[in-house]
Amino acid sequence: MTDPTELATLSGDAQEWTLEELEGALLPAHAREKGGRDTIFAWLAHYQQAKATGQDAINGTVGSLLEDDGTLAVNPVVSSTLREQADLELSAYAPLPGLPHFRTLVQELALGDGLPIMQHHGIHTEALITPGGTGALYQSARNLLTSGTTLLLRDRHWGPYQTIAKECGLLTATWPLTPSSGDDQIDVEALDGVLKQLLNEQNHVLSWLNDPAHNPTGMSLTAESRMIVLERFANSALANPSKGVTLFIDGAYAAYAKDHHGWGDTLALFASEALWPSNLFVCFGFSASKSHTLYGQRCGALVMLHPSREFLDRMLEVMLHTGRGTWSGAARLPQATVHTIHSNVDKFVDWLHERDLLQQMLERRREIFNHRCAKEGVPLLPSHDGYFAFLPHENPGPIAEASATRGLYVVPLEGGIRIGLCSIPTQDVDRAAAILAEAWRHGA
Ligand SMILES: Cc1ncc(COP(=O)(O)O)c(C=O)c1O
Repeated sequence: MTDPTELATLSGDAQEWTLEELEGALLPAHAREKGGRDTIFAWLAHYQQAKATGQDAINGTVGSLLEDDGTLAVNPVVSSTLREQADLELSAYAPLPGLPHFRTLVQELALGDGLPIMQHHGIHTEALITPGGTGALYQSARNLLTSGTTLLLRDRHWGPYQTIAKECGLLTATWPLTPSSGDDQIDVEALDGVLKQLLNEQNHVLSWLNDPAHNPTGMSLTAESRMIVLERFANSALANPSKGVTLFIDGAYAAYAKDHHGWGDTLALFASEALWPSNLFVCFGFSASKSHTLYGQRCGALVMLHPSREFLDRMLEVMLHTGRGTWSGAARLPQATVHTIHSNVDKFVDWLHERDLLQQMLERRREIFNHRCAKEGVPLLPSHDGYFAFLPHENPGPIAEASATRGLYVVPLEGGIRIGLCSIPTQDVDRAAAILAEAWRHGA
């Protein structure tokens, strides 16, 4: 056997290798392309640094809901119920598709009173546990498009959509968040155009639509707009009977929208009045991260809707394969916790009460913020619900810098600035809007 010291001399000490040489030796090309520090965490670090050096800084960077004293908002009945779970729920694996009672419950949590109505009208439903809403997005990207084809997004979207798409070898196309003029929410012509183009080029279309309480704008579609969108997807499916069309509604923030179950109502109405094309598949991404303040427990679900039970059984099988081959199973403890809360009246009432308080806190912050921005003439995008507001700008970096020097930390993203109303204490919101207005005038 070769003496290890001799081997080290022969091959050179690893510490003498440059990072580039190490990467060249150890990483295949596709892995070397990955990187980029998350902008949101970078700006959070700026805030923390400023705070540590004594600046009277306001934190508008994070995507978690903070109380007015800056601590993480935690729904207390959720933590107490989690701690009360039996050892089995802590230690055992969950069945790969999820705990059966959780899979039933999560469909109700996602779709509300619309669920039995659509089922009555022949739409079958199924749910699969995933590690967070992100896991549900990943499942759809892996299985409803072919690698090398294009995923359809709105032109403002959560940054990790692009990361998931890249991990799955997908390109992305977008349709506008709003029409360039007028009061309508949907640019029907643009949506029809991009659907048509994609269906000409590929056999499957998958679109991720984050609604209600869109990240990063806080925009929510009205009932009328939801129906317009659904009809455009259904019409595209009808016009292309040999191709597959999937609309994935990402409801990550639905618990903090005025209309929690708007999509359930729209889908129920559609199922009762219209013809559901067999090549139209609807998915709903559920996340317990925000609704149950269980961010770190990684609890979500993919809820699937289709007129064929057999097809849903098959989808479950396909997706279980992906889950098994990616993260194996999802955590059991949060599933058991959420189920316990929703099957005990007292716990449910407590959960709802706290959820409503948190929602009211967000509404108050948004009201103050929107009001001050309107007064200052700051052209925010429409912002109705949830965690965020967004100021569009071609060159957001200098505005974020100018805000930071004045004490407000926000996140410059492609095409504008994201303001995390979820993390700004209510008493600081008016000052935050005034700082943003000043920085915007400076950079406009
Ligand atoms: C738009 C959007 N979708 C989905 C998610 C998924 O969250 P999680 O995987 O924690 O459930 C998030 C989280 O921030 C989000 O902002």
